[in-house]
Amino acid sequence: MTLLAILMALLAARYIPANPDDYFPEQRTVYEDNTFAILGHIFGASVAMILGPFQFLPGQRPRLIGLHRWMGRLYITGVAVGSAFGFYMAWLAYGGIISSLGFATLAVLWFYTGAMAVREVRRGRIRAHRDWMIRNFALTFAAVTLRIWLIMLSEVAGIDFINAYRTVAWLCWVPNLLIAQAMVRQQLPDRRTLPHGIFPGGGV
Ligand code: HEM
Repeated sequence: MTLLAILMALLAARYIPANPDDYFPEQRTVYEDNTFAILGHIFGASVAMILGPFQFLPGQRPRLIGLHRWMGRLYITGVAVGSAFGFYMAWLAYGGIISSLGFATLAVLWFYTGAMAVREVRRGRIRAHRDWMIRNFALTFAAVTLRIWLIMLSEVAGIDFINAYRTVAWLCWVPNLLIAQAMVRQQLPDRRTLPHGIFPGGGV
C-alpha cells in the first residue's frame, strides 16, 4: 500500500511543470482552463497520499507522538485542500454527470471522514480517531484503485473508455470504504491496546 501510494504521488508529480502535453489527454483543455484548481487538487492530495501510510505504522505512540501530530496536521491540510479542489473539479470531470456525482460524493466523504478524525482526537477518543482515519485513508487510496480499475475495465475487459471511466468514478472508492468499515468492525489486533481516555499530552 505504501509503495503504491508513493508511486501514485510520483505519477501525479508530472503535473508540477504545468505542461499541457503531460495532462490526462481527454481533459487537456479543461485542465488548461482550470490550472490552479487541478494543481491545487493534485498538490494537496499528493501530500495526503505520501504521508498517510506512515501514520498507521505501529510503535510511533507515544515515542514519536510529536512527529505523528505534525504529520497528521499536514495530512489533514492536504485532505482539506485536495478535497475542496477535488469537489470543484468533480463538476468538470470526464464522463459527465455520472462521473461528477461519483467524484463529488468522494470529495465530500473524504473531507467529512477527515473532519471526524480530527474531532475525535481533540476529544481524546483515540480508537474513534483511528477508525475515522482508516476510513479516510481508504478514500485517499481511491486515487490508486481508480487507476487499477481503469486499466482492468478498459484494457483487460475491453469496456469503452468513457464507460469504464464513469464506472471507476464510483468503483474507485465504494469497495475501499466497505473494506475500511469491515476492518473497523473486525477489531484489529492491537485495537484493545489503545487507550480509552485522554491522549498523553492531550489535543491533536
Ligand atoms: C480522494 C479524493 C479525490 C477526489 C474526489 C478527486 C477528484 C478528482 C477529479 C474530479 C479529477 C478530475 C478528473 C477528470 O478530469 O475527469 C481529478 C484528477 C486528478 N487527481 Fe484526484 N481526486 C482525489 C484524490 C486524489 C489523490 C489522492 C491523488 C494523488 C496524488 C489525485 C491525483 C489526481 C491527478 C493526478 C489528477 C489528474 C488526472 C490524471 O492525470 O489522472 N487525486 N481528481
